[in-house]
Amino acid sequence: MAEFLTANDKRTHYCGELSAKNVGERVCVMGWAQKQRDLGALIFIDLRDRSGILQLAFDDATDREIFAKAFGVRAEFVLLAKGVIRMRGEGAINKNLPTGEVEVAVDEFKVISAAQTPPFEITENSKVNAELRLRHRYLDLRRPDMQRNIIARSRISKLARDYYADNGFIDIETPNLCKPTPEGARDYLIPSRVHKGKFYALPQSPQLYKQLLMVSGFDRYFQIARCFRDEDLRADRQPEFTQLDTEMSFVTADDVMRMHEGFLKYVLKEEMGIELDYDFIRMPYEEAMNRFGSDKPDIRFGFELCDLSSILKACEFKVFAGAIENGGSVRAINVKGGAKFSRKEIDSLVEFVKSYRAKGLAWLKWAESGDISSSYAKFLSEEENEAIKAAVGAKAGDLILIVADKNSVVFDSLGALRCECAKRLGLLDPFDFKFLWVTEFPLLEYSEEDGRFYAKHHPFTSPMDEDLQYIDSDPGRVRAKAYDIVLNGTELGGGSIRIHDSEIQSKMFEVLGLTKEEANEKFGYLLEAFKYGVPPHGGLAFGLDRLVTLLLGLEDIRDVIAFPKVQNASELMTKCPSEPDAGALAELGLAIVAEEE
Ligand code: AMO
Ligand code: AMP
Repeated sequence: MAEFLTANDKRTHYCGELSAKNVGERVCVMGWAQKQRDLGALIFIDLRDRSGILQLAFDDATDREIFAKAFGVRAEFVLLAKGVIRMRGEGAINKNLPTGEVEVAVDEFKVISAAQTPPFEITENSKVNAELRLRHRYLDLRRPDMQRNIIARSRISKLARDYYADNGFIDIETPNLCKPTPEGARDYLIPSRVHKGKFYALPQSPQLYKQLLMVSGFDRYFQIARCFRDEDLRADRQPEFTQLDTEMSFVTADDVMRMHEGFLKYVLKEEMGIELDYDFIRMPYEEAMNRFGSDKPDIRFGFELCDLSSILKACEFKVFAGAIENGGSVRAINVKGGAKFSRKEIDSLVEFVKSYRAKGLAWLKWAESGDISSSYAKFLSEEENEAIKAAVGAKAGDLILIVADKNSVVFDSLGALRCECAKRLGLLDPFDFKFLWVTEFPLLEYSEEDGRFYAKHHPFTSPMDEDLQYIDSDPGRVRAKAYDIVLNGTELGGGSIRIHDSEIQSKMFEVLGLTKEEANEKFGYLLEAFKYGVPPHGGLAFGLDRLVTLLLGLEDIRDVIAFPKVQNASELMTKCPSEPDAGALAELGLAIVAEEE
């Protein structure tokens, strides 16, 4: 039978706050039973709340009715206990627990709520499978590590609000029912009841609203904004996620980068106690690709790409020479210390690059002993082999890995391979925070499949002034005033200086293949707004979920989101999405069409 709180039942402390300095104090604590230990004449209950665990003690001196109640307590019962804090007996001290020296001699006790045996034990770093955890997320969130994650997230959000408010940013909410804002994903659509056959979109980002707020003269905008993108999920992606979204007027890219770099330094100092007293590296996109094969390079380790094309363009080995002839390249990484990989491990690296569309991986293993084994050396001349070793700086103990293909495949596969090798060699310390800006992104990206250009960032990003001249003749060559902030191989945030000229904006829509009518239909309000005086403006959005994940040294974004979705975009606890009532559909003027076989 549940007992109730009365006016006298006021909590005095959280469990985790109590220690030897509280001995002799009378306290009232409330929480969940972690476990109950019945030693006959003695009962101990570990009481848990969000702050930690405290031992409740029941013994000979305890009222018999209370003792009997304590006897019936099982894991996860919700309890109230009052009593005096005392030192534990010799030998009962638990050095692993902050409260491990003390206990409560309970003299008032309530069982507020009983609990069934939970489907999994509520403990730190549980190995329980993800599906079961997510089906009972409210229990999963009771686990101390999940509580720490969610509470850390709350602190980081507060640091963001503080930092941006202190720098003159105004927190403004933008609509969630809106017209599509393209960020490169599919929209989630919301049917309108009043306007049958018409739909709102959930925002992929507040991009256009924040630009319009600059037209309105707010000068600096900030929002912790929920964004929605119907795209394939991965460990660092959710269909709904949170941005720390900003926009500033009368700024250049340098101003925006400095402001946001300041925020990251502030968070690292306040949350992690780490002071970064240097300017973050700024690396042009082209350099990032050539050196790391990625526009979000992990710079915690080396293994940089080395272009072997000039050495190998005339070689006899078809695989290499052919790739170069076809306009591709041959590039290598030198995995320092990689010679310790077994033949089997090297074979698995060969398989690894195939998932990045590479047709093969050529390798040379130079053992510590001086022995050399290789998949390609026999196809090359002595000079060519020596030239490769010299180019990549190989020594005994190293492993050379080479991919020959078109450039996009070479970059993708070697970019991923260098990270994979670093991981296997144990070189990746999640708390070694290495930030960098990647700048000068291409404005446009050509899709072979669709035979047209797409905006690499979004269609509102400004071309670099000196490249504007190529927008008609050679659009692929135009670089953008865009920048991404990258941390340890993850894109934490991205932004740009925007186009603030309606003529250039119209030109951009034209390059993206929109007719005047289409551009007007979709973005007419923006073009119209640009006629009334627009400040130059730019901004950036951080992925808050990603930022928190990385700062906590975690890998899965779901561990910092209270109620995340799984791979197929459903939520296992509430079981959504679900079928609507027939009435609701009719009201919206919608009907479900059966899928064709
Ligand atoms: P962008 O599309 O680069 O830029 O998004 C900004 C940041 O949001 C995070 N992010 C995600 N996090 C989790 N799940 C997702 N599905 C997801 N998609 C993006 C990333 C990313 O760097 N409006 C522009 C910003 C601007 O130009 O100011 C924008 O949305 O960390
Ligand atoms: P083959 O002549 O096909 O037996 O290939 C000889 C070596 O070259 C093998 O180690 C292959 O894995 C490797 N190889 C094949 N294609 C490529 C490629 N596109 N890039 C790099 N190495 C390759």
